[in-house]
Amino acid sequence: MDDLLRLARTMMERAHAPYSRYRVGAALRDEAGGLHGGCNVENAAYPQGWCAEASAIAALVGAGGKRIVECLVVGPGPEPIAPCGGCRQKLREFASDDLPVHLCGPAGLHRTVTLGELLPMSFGARHLP
Ligand code: THU
Repeated sequence: MDDLLRLARTMMERAHAPYSRYRVGAALRDEAGGLHGGCNVENAAYPQGWCAEASAIAALVGAGGKRIVECLVVGPGPEPIAPCGGCRQKLREFASDDLPVHLCGPAGLHRTVTLGELLPMSFGARHLP
């Protein structure tokens, strides 16, 4: 988990968050062990900004990753960040219910939950005909 935290912290420092000033970093491990990071990228047209998790997922997919096997998110605290609803669904596309999601603040790991806990009874590809 330390490698994920290191990467996510670097991403957090690079976040483009001039409007909220709330910097977020995310890091993902893919099925082959590869690491992928991302940060939130805000926009002067506010709704056009996107989350750190979305950036990390784009990096994973662009690098050829197929599945997410571990996820870590870090924010500035004092409350440890939890992925927003939209990002939970985005993670769901590439991960199963038992995906560990590490929630971190400035002091490090706060707690680990599963994607199934964050997004119970989720909609997924299996629902589509
Ligand atoms: N944010 C993330 O990057 N990930 C989340 O899961 C929650 C929120 C970002 C979006 C926005 O740039 C800032 O945090 C404040 O909402």
